[in-house]
Order: sequence, then structure tokens, then C-alpha cells
Amino acid sequence: MNVSEKLEAIKNEAKERISIIKSMHELNDAKAKYLGKKGMFNDVMKLMKDLPNEEKPMFGKLTNETKQIILKYIEEQRNLIEQAIIQEQLNKETIDVTLPGKKFLLGKKHLMTQIVEEIEDLFVGMGYQIMEGPEIETDENNFEKLNLPKDHPARDMQDTFYITNDTLLRTHTSPVQVRTMLEKGGKEPIKILCPGKVYRRDDDDATHSHQFMQIEGLVVDETTSMAELKGTLLEMANKMFGEGRKIRLRPSYFPFTEPSVEVDISCHNCNGKGCNICKGTGWIEVLGAGMVNNNVLEASGYDSTKYRGFAFGIGVERLAMLKYGINDIRQFYTNDIRFNSQFKK
Ligand code: PHE
Repeated sequence: MNVSEKLEAIKNEAKERISIIKSMHELNDAKAKYLGKKGMFNDVMKLMKDLPNEEKPMFGKLTNETKQIILKYIEEQRNLIEQAIIQEQLNKETIDVTLPGKKFLLGKKHLMTQIVEEIEDLFVGMGYQIMEGPEIETDENNFEKLNLPKDHPARDMQDTFYITNDTLLRTHTSPVQVRTMLEKGGKEPIKILCPGKVYRRDDDDATHSHQFMQIEGLVVDETTSMAELKGTLLEMANKMFGEGRKIRLRPSYFPFTEPSVEVDISCHNCNGKGCNICKGTGWIEVLGAGMVNNNVLEASGYDSTKYRGFAFGIGVERLAMLKYGINDIRQFYTNDIRFNSQFKK
């Protein structure tokens, strides 16, 4: 075989081999095989040695042209492979726009939040203002100014988390009464609703929690009366537990109200006949209330010969438990989604 035949043979073989290569890796191998330092053209160079000198330039040129052609084959094949890779990727990543989308779970308001907002709406409709106070309170606001001096036996009713001798986690929302009266300086009438967290040193069980929620109401004016308190609470009973509820006031004791009452609502479950929710009595106890004790008005700067007030304190978990038949207060705080998601608004 002479040199030009040899070159022609290499070229044809390269064309055929390269055209069936499918991967970059094989293509690089082929490039080394034909064009590299130890490639096939080295053999051709050996043949060139024996050629007459005048023919050498011609064959040198031919060799270079052949190399260029093979390089072209390789580059063409590289393009084909690259395009095939892209095509494959596109096929793999096709998006089917007709597939249904993924649904994301939407959170919803916690039952406690729902009930607080429901009660707030109701009272705002009756002209109340929403007020809040701090959860870390002074002993003075939480107890002393509410007619509960140190060593008062009624302090035992609210076992307290003390932070220092004079600061504590508030045991009820009643200190917001004190704060508001002090703020108004004994001069203006007051009509407020104060929702918030409170804390007591109770052992947690089905009906006790060391943290729970209360909603406090306070009305102070020159004509405020027990009748007004009763009407207000009846309105709330009907809104929260359905029309046709009755309420019943039973004498009770709180140091900050006089007289004090415990308020029962006729059972919404059995309509007063007696069932397991009302423990057969036909009534459910939902809150404490009363006329603001004169000592409390005076301690916060209100003239008790001119002003009177009424106040009430609702236990929100208890209300929710009665309304929805929930039998364990810890359900409100363990964040079990199976529980929480039952109360859709
Ligand atoms: N603060 C009382 C308690 O937590 C409830 C209450 C509030 C009673 C207002 C009467 C008036 O037990």
C-alpha cells in the first residue's frame, strides 16, 4: 500500500468508526487513536521516510488534509452526541401541564383564637374596647389593688408562680382592670374586654392546666348595675351557645367583687333536662362575676360614691370544652393536628 492509499484507508475507517460512536468518552478515545501522539498517523510518518524527497511535501500536505478531515468527522459527531444528550434531558424533564397540582395544607386558627375572636367581636359590638396587659405582673396589681392584701386567705384560691417577692406570672386577667382604672385616673367611664394568658401552680390533668386563657370584662360608670351585668351575660350565652339559653346567678365570693356571683348557663346539649355534659343538673358553670368592690374602685382612684362597676372573668378553655364536648384541657396545648384541624372556621 502506498502512502496515499494508506491515508485513504485511514480516512475511510475513521469515518465509519466515528459515525457510530455514542458517548463523549468513546469519542475522546477515538480522537487519541487517530490524531494523538501515538496515533495512526505515526505509522504513516514511518512510510514517508522511504519516499523520494521531492514527493515528501505533497504527501505531507495530504497527511495534514486527512487529519483535518478526521478532526471534522470528530467535531461533527461531537455535535450529534451533544444534541442527543440535550434531547434526552428534555425528554426526561418534560412537564405535563395537565397533571393536577400538589395541594399545600393551609393552616387555620387554633380553637382558642377562634373563640377569643368570637367573644371579642360580640363585645366590641356592645361598645367594649379590647385591652391587654403583661403576663408578668406586680403583686400589687394582681392582688393588693384587687382587695387581696398579703396573707389574705383567698390568695390560696390562686396558687401563684412568683418571680420575685413583688413580681409574678399573673394568676388572672383582673390586673388589667387595675391598670385601666389607674390609666383613666378615676375620671372616665370604662368599658373593656381583656383576653389573655394566665398562670397557676396547678398540677396538669384533664381539667387543670398551669397555663390557660381568661377573658376579663369591666364596666365602670355612674349607673352601672347588676341588671346590666345579667343582661350582658345573657346576650353572651345566647351568642356562644345558641338562642334560647337561660342564665342563673348563684351567690359566690371574690375579694374584688361585692356581691359576687357564679354564672351558670342552661345546658345547650340537653336544653336543661340533664345530660353528661351538665352532669345531670341542666346547668353549666361558665364564669365568675360581680359588682366591683368599692375597695377596688378606691384603690385605683375611682370615687365609689359616684362610680360603680361590674366585672366578669371567663375561662376560655372551659367554655370551649363545654361547647364542643372536649374532655381534656391538655388537648389545647399538645398541638395534635388531628385535634386542631377539627375546628374549621
Ligand atoms: N379573676 C377571677 C378568677 O380568676 C374571675 C373573676 C373576674 C371573678 C371578675 C369576678 C369578676 O377566678
